[in-house]
Amino acid sequence: MKYLKDIKELKGVRVLVRLDLNVPVRGGSVTDDFRIRKILPTIKYLQDRQAKIILMSHIGDGEAKASLFPVAEHFKKLEIDCVYVQDYKKVLQNNDKIILLENLRVYDGEMQNDKAFAKELASLGDIYVNEAFAVSHRHHASVSAITEFIPSYAGLLFEEEVRHLKATFKPEHPFLFIIGGAKFETKIPLIEKFLKIADKVFVGGALANNFYKERGVEIGKSLVSPEHFDLDRFAGNPKLELPVDEVWKNDAILDVGPKTVSILREEVKKAKHILWNGPLGLYEQGFKEPTLSLAKMIAEATKHGAKSILGGGDTLAVIAELGMEDHFTFVSTGGGAMLEFLATGTLPGIEALEKSEA
Ligand code: 3PG
Repeated sequence: MKYLKDIKELKGVRVLVRLDLNVPVRGGSVTDDFRIRKILPTIKYLQDRQAKIILMSHIGDGEAKASLFPVAEHFKKLEIDCVYVQDYKKVLQNNDKIILLENLRVYDGEMQNDKAFAKELASLGDIYVNEAFAVSHRHHASVSAITEFIPSYAGLLFEEEVRHLKATFKPEHPFLFIIGGAKFETKIPLIEKFLKIADKVFVGGALANNFYKERGVEIGKSLVSPEHFDLDRFAGNPKLELPVDEVWKNDAILDVGPKTVSILREEVKKAKHILWNGPLGLYEQGFKEPTLSLAKMIAEATKHGAKSILGGGDTLAVIAELGMEDHFTFVSTGGGAMLEFLATGTLPGIEALEKSEA
């Protein structure tokens, strides 16, 4: 894989940068700009070296065909003077301003990983930089096929994401892995993998309900992934820890209880390396105190020298609410990409960069 930071001369070079600007927008304004702020150093790096910068991204899931115009406006608030170009075919070769292309998912070719579309995009730049780790689990044209047509590099943040997440495969010990949220089927490979690497794997959120269900513990109407998972292989594993008490409402488990928070406090204090993805309770409906306490505990441990790696959309919302983004070793911009990278050690976007000989 080639890296942006290793390119010696960028003056006048047209650098086509794939970002993940899939940020929440309400009433025409960006409501959480974490992902935007994380790529500002890359833009500054390119500006300082007098590159010609063309930014591209998706926003939304493809169905709604949302616009990146509010993001272009937000860039201006951050003093990034950028021109929003609705039709990529109209990009001028000699534009000295930063260009932001419209949502790539308005074109069918993007999500189909269409080669002809990728080639057209590639023609806009002299080199391509993947600075969109968070979307690199997708086989999409601007992440994958494009690398066949243009010299391709990993961006500064991309490199950092991979480095920090990879470090959890060879962690310092004691290593504590905390996983919460829902969608058991997407997280079981991670639980399985990290039971081999970590000293403790704490499973919270709705994920714990699947374990309770398999063990015949009463869970009422609690959220649970409906499939049957063979969890016998985890029985008696001393590394696996579940909540010991819960908060119930309307016959459903919605959060962990105070005894569980105390146990977590002790585990976090002992740990030298902590990996956390997913809230402990139904955060978006206000069941958030234990999750907020956990974030503060991990921030405190980080202050005392522990390494802390966090990620996932809901986890980011927690940290944003506390204004604590800078209190951890590394906060990943990835949601699905982070989970897939942790489970498999690679992503389609990484493989595309590795294969790229262009
Ligand atoms: C994300 O928000 O995780 C990325 O932008 C990927 O978005 P997607 O799940 O719509 O592909």
